This record gives sequence, C-alpha cells and structure tokens, in this order.
Amino acid sequence: MRGGVRSSGGPLPARPTGAGRWGRVRRQERFWNRLYRSDPAILGAGPSAFARWFHRWLPGEPHRGNLLVELGCGYGRDAWFWAAQGYAVEAVDCAGVGLRQARSRTDARVDPPRFTQGALLPFLQGIRSASVSVVYSNLVLNMDFREREHRAFFGEVRRVLRPGGFHAYSVRSSHDPWYGKGRKVAPDTYDLSPRGSVMHFFSPEYARSLGSSGFRNRVIREVRQGGKEFPIRVLYVVDERR
Ligand SMILES: C[S@@+](CC[C@H](N)C(=O)[O-])C[C@H]1O[C@@H](n2cnc3c(N)ncnc32)[C@H](O)[C@@H]1O
Repeated sequence: MRGGVRSSGGPLPARPTGAGRWGRVRRQERFWNRLYRSDPAILGAGPSAFARWFHRWLPGEPHRGNLLVELGCGYGRDAWFWAAQGYAVEAVDCAGVGLRQARSRTDARVDPPRFTQGALLPFLQGIRSASVSVVYSNLVLNMDFREREHRAFFGEVRRVLRPGGFHAYSVRSSHDPWYGKGRKVAPDTYDLSPRGSVMHFFSPEYARSLGSSGFRNRVIREVRQGGKEFPIRVLYVVDERR
C-alpha cells in the first residue's frame, strides 16, 4: 500500500461481455489496445495540452510526495509528467498494451508512477479517504460512461480528495464537431464506430451538476484542440474539494 492506495493490479476480472458496464469496459480495452499497438505515441509523445495547462494553473504548492491519482492514463505520458513534478502518482487504465508501454519508460531522476490495470470505480474504491491531493484525467470521463456512473465516480473522487484538493479533468464538449454523429446510445452519448469509440459529450451545465455536491468549481473553460487535421472542442474543468 502506498499513499493509501491498495494495489489492485493484474488483469481485469473475467466478466461477461454485453451491453452492461463490464461489457463496455471490455470494449474500451479492445479499442484502445488496438490503437496503442498501432502507434505507441498515437496521442502525442509529450504531456497533453491539458496537463501543461493545469500545471501552469496550479497554485505553487509543494508537490513533493503529494499523491496524484490519474484515471485513464493510457500509455502514461501525463503520469510521467506529474511524477517529474514530484507527485507520487497512482494511475489506472483498462488497456494493458498502453500500460506495458507506460511501465517500460524509465527516468532515473523520477520516482516512477505506479500503473494498475483496472476499471475506474473499483480503483477509486481502493483508495483511503482524504488521502489524495489531485485526481486528474485527460479525455477519459467522456468515454463510454452513463450519468449514474459519472455520479458514482464523482462521489468517490470527493471521498478520496483531501479538503482543498483538486479534481481536474478534460472532456469532449457538447460543442464538439463530432457531437450528434453516429448512433445515439444515451443522452449526449454517441457511438462513433467505426471511426471512434462511444463518446459522452459534456456541456458546462452537466459538468457543474456533477460537481455540485462537495466541490467548489474553480474553472470551466472550453478550448479548441487537435489542429486542422482533427479539430475537437474540449472542456477543461477544475473542481476544488470543499
Ligand atoms: C482518449 S484516451 C486518453 C489516454 C490518456 N489520458 C492520455 O491523454 O494520453 C482514453 C483512455 O481511457 C481508458 N479507459 C476508457 N474507459 C475506461 C474504463 N472504463 N476504465 C479504465 N480505463 C478506461 C482507455 O483505455 C484509454 O487509455
């Protein structure tokens, strides 16, 4: 156990596939494993734009040893960035291929992040209350999750954060050009296959409502990302634990 996080490494538990929660996690796992196998730096080699922005935004608190939990870390580009800032990093993702790439990196100057394969909610449930300074995710909460799952995540994020800690996340916005494309599977949620995965787009109102209990919203900001090749609109959200 490090920093209040019980290790829950190893493969995801065998569960039936199908339309339920575990079936959707399995589909995400397959989708992202395929992409990470095709190109180990498919989302970029350096830290994400959101990580760089949030790092500039963060007040100058001493990071050393503080616990940062990353949800949906992919191949670890942001987890390693946060570790280089001095955080103790615990990161989770369902995609084993990305995690192997993440673990194979080395940096002698940095205490390496700990990478766990799993689903977000059980991982959060294994963390001690009020032990975390930052819960961070980049373009993850907009994946194939329903509103009740978002509400469960936010409840757990609130529990694990210390008062004054931050929940910082970026998500695809409901003003994104891909909004409304593909097959609608739930409110604001579209199956973009074969060109993408299932995407739950966030409006600022939805982000505010998810953070309305136990948090003080500090930032909701929409930005353009992806350049001309793949223009997308992204919400940057920072909620502070009351
Ligand atoms: C758009 S990628 C972002 C990866 C990383 N945050 C980055 O910016 O490089 C979304 C990630 O979320 C992970 N993911 C999606 N659904 C998940 C779930 N239910 N449990 C755990 N990870 C999940 C995927 O495997 C994928 O690595």
